[in-house]
Amino acid sequence: MSILSKLFGRHATEVLQELSVLQVDVHSHFIPGIDDGAKTLEDSLTLIKAMSDFGYRKVITTPHVMSDFFRNSPETILGGLDPVRAALNEQGYSIEIDAAAEYYYDYELESKIGKEPLLTFGERYLLFEVSYVNAPDNLDQLIFNLQSNGYQPVLAHPERYPFWFRDFSVFEKLKDKGVLFQLNINSLTGHYSPATKKVAEQMIDKNYYEFLGSDCHHYGHIELMKKVRQEKYLGKLLSSGILRNQLL
Ligand SMILES: [Fe+2]
Repeated sequence: MSILSKLFGRHATEVLQELSVLQVDVHSHFIPGIDDGAKTLEDSLTLIKAMSDFGYRKVITTPHVMSDFFRNSPETILGGLDPVRAALNEQGYSIEIDAAAEYYYDYELESKIGKEPLLTFGERYLLFEVSYVNAPDNLDQLIFNLQSNGYQPVLAHPERYPFWFRDFSVFEKLKDKGVLFQLNINSLTGHYSPATKKVAEQMIDKNYYEFLGSDCHHYGHIELMKKVRQEKYLGKLLSSGILRNQLL
């Protein structure tokens, strides 16, 4: 045991990563009552204030858009954003909030591309997710359609899709096509599964991630974020120079 550890206890030598270097979070569920995230305005404010305490200057919140469960639209999302923003202003919080969406890859998403406006952030980055159960069909077609309509597809938490774990060639192909990847910060805690943590670390080693997101739904995720700051792989990603969060 080192002298410092003896003096200050066994945690003295742990380094906590500073989330403030990210500046901007790109994935969360903070609009009350429209998906499985914040339920009330009060919930929403508690979560956003916790993000502010971590040092984020802005959150881009991304409610689910999913034809089976969460039938959101730019109207429900942006309409829900206004009261949250107003309450933050009223209470003197300087953290900014914007909204985009987390689009589930389903028939409705396909049918909207090029026909209806889709919510994006930054350089027309479009966050999308796929089923956790089955590998998607025609993902190439989706990516082609998005890109030919001027969107930059960002795959949410690729480390959470078990059907791709044994063969990284799918990830390689997606990267070759220009798909950007977003890591869920809490994947590094092992919260989703030990395998997800391992795959996330392998992807960090391969410099796959352009974005880091909290995917925060509730206060339990905030508690995990406090702990994840000890993870060495988080430090590795934060110092990689390839994240784009702070540019937003
Ligand atoms: Fe999400």
